[in-house]
Amino acid sequence: MQDKLNEIEKAALESLAAVGDPAAVEAWRVTHLGRSSELMGVFSSLGKLSKEERPVVGAAANRVKVALEAALEEKAAAVKNAALAKSLAEEKLDVTLPGRAKNIGRLHPSTQQLRRVLAILAEMGFQVFTSREVETDDMNFQMLNFPLHHPARDMQDTFFVEAENRGDNPILMRTHTSPGQIHAMRKFAATNPSDPPPIRIALPGMCFRYEQITARSEVQFNQVEGLAVGKNITFADLKGTIADFVRRMFGEGARLRFRASYFPFTEPSAEVDVECFVCGGKGCQVCKNSGWLEILGCGMVHPNVLMNGGYDPKVYSGFAWGMGPERQLMLRNKVGDIRYFWGNDVRFLEQF
Ligand code: DAH
Repeated sequence: MQDKLNEIEKAALESLAAVGDPAAVEAWRVTHLGRSSELMGVFSSLGKLSKEERPVVGAAANRVKVALEAALEEKAAAVKNAALAKSLAEEKLDVTLPGRAKNIGRLHPSTQQLRRVLAILAEMGFQVFTSREVETDDMNFQMLNFPLHHPARDMQDTFFVEAENRGDNPILMRTHTSPGQIHAMRKFAATNPSDPPPIRIALPGMCFRYEQITARSEVQFNQVEGLAVGKNITFADLKGTIADFVRRMFGEGARLRFRASYFPFTEPSAEVDVECFVCGGKGCQVCKNSGWLEILGCGMVHPNVLMNGGYDPKVYSGFAWGMGPERQLMLRNKVGDIRYFWGNDVRFLEQF
């Protein structure tokens, strides 16, 4: 029996030497130490031995079992270490590589510019008044002194919303923020119709025009409209306010000029240019060699518009202006193509 145990031990240790991976280690364990292994067979046959033989064989079998278990443990550890060494060698991990930065979002450049504009206007006492993007023809045009079929409507190509039986008052996407003037005046006037309060508001928001999309025109863009209505407001107030805004926006030294223009809802009307800050007024590609960049339209609120808003033009006067934050950003940051703003290309957006 002793010989048989020695043989079992020898054969087991020999076959263990050839074992090289975790699966083979487990297979070896089942074969040599498992329930149906030869060694376990010896333990189960102890009962058949004589009283004298039993403790001797039992002790010997136990010694073999302990020896095999120790050898197995050693082998298992060696196989594990070898596997680790192999994976360390093959899949090198460079712990000095910097981690991946989290992608932190930011405000869209248009929103940033809108906020700059509104912050300046807030300092100047203009309160934000938001107004709807879907409008009626009435509000977008007629109340602003663009009668039906008036040629000035050609200045603003329009998206109409499909709606039945609207007659001369179809529904449309607003082409400018100016209809907000009527909404605002009516709301303020309603608080005290016989003596409406003065108004000083900024109307920001998206506008829509059915235009061919080019580097200079998009079908959607933001505007900020300013409106001041009160008693004894004159063109001098308009000039002072615009000049102050331009200096706060474009710098203390910014030069500007007023050019006579036409809008149905203002009389007189003007457009404002700032001296080209790319070339300093000498003339360059950006200002098309004129030395000036157009930034807004403005004027004294037309009496018909005041009336439509519930303000008596014999008692009240006012001024208004409209400008485009995207346009301002294009001028400020030399963005050559307005399509970038809604192109959703992070390579553009990340620069702001
Ligand atoms: N609504 C005009 C446009 O979109 C801009 C404008 C011009 C607004 C003169 C005004 C204004 O309030 O007085 O072209």
